[in-house]
Amino acid sequence: MSFHVEPALETDVEAIARVHVQGWRESYKDFLNPASLAGLSVEERARMWRSTFTAPDPRALLLVGRASDGEIVGFVCGGPVRLEDAVSLDTAAEVYAIYLLDKVKGQGLGRRLMAGLFDHLTGQGFSSAGLWVLRDNLSARRFYERLGGKPGPGQELELRGQTVTEIAYRFDPIPTIR
Ligand SMILES: CC(C)(COP(=O)(O)OP(=O)(O)OC[C@H]1O[C@@H](n2cnc3c(N)ncnc32)[C@H](O)[C@@H]1OP(=O)(O)O)[C@@H](O)C(=O)NCCC(=O)NCCS
Repeated sequence: MSFHVEPALETDVEAIARVHVQGWRESYKDFLNPASLAGLSVEERARMWRSTFTAPDPRALLLVGRASDGEIVGFVCGGPVRLEDAVSLDTAAEVYAIYLLDKVKGQGLGRRLMAGLFDHLTGQGFSSAGLWVLRDNLSARRFYERLGGKPGPGQELELRGQTVTEIAYRFDPIPTIR
């Protein structure tokens, strides 16, 4: 399948929210309990993504991956590091989220989304980037490691009523991914 990677438009928020919810349901079924996943709402996620367009931060970027028929099948979002986590990522920038639908995994789209985001972050003057990933999400951890990410400290948090452990990954310096 061929993909096109481009900055998201406000008109994409519903589709991004659908990928977000379906991505959680497909990818987190082994980590989060069924009630948490069933309670996810496309409308709530769409509101959240729409809010990022009301006062956009030029240092942040939301990229979508489109299949050749135009369907949005993945997205990545990142920008300045968020400071609300109990444990510091200790990086200048952060990858806030990356999700692909099951049907497009393993075809290079995740790499292209990360490459586009990292190019943008480097262009904004950020020298390092980090992210949080569920400790048990070995598939995503192998992906980040393949791109040069190094594991760091962990933190526990409440995620939809469940206590989970996340592991930090750091890219320092931010690599050029091709
Ligand atoms: C993790 C994710 C973004 C990876 O995207 P992807 O398109 O499947 O990965 P790619 O095809 O671009 O793979 C890039 C490289 O990582 C490697 N890789 C990807 N998944 C891997 C895995 N599970 N195990 C080992 N290596 C893996 C690929 O082999 C590839 O290496 P190569 O280029 O040397 O061949 C995607 O699978 C996804 O959305 N997963 C579910 C959501 C999720 O867990 N998000 C992370 C939240 S923190």
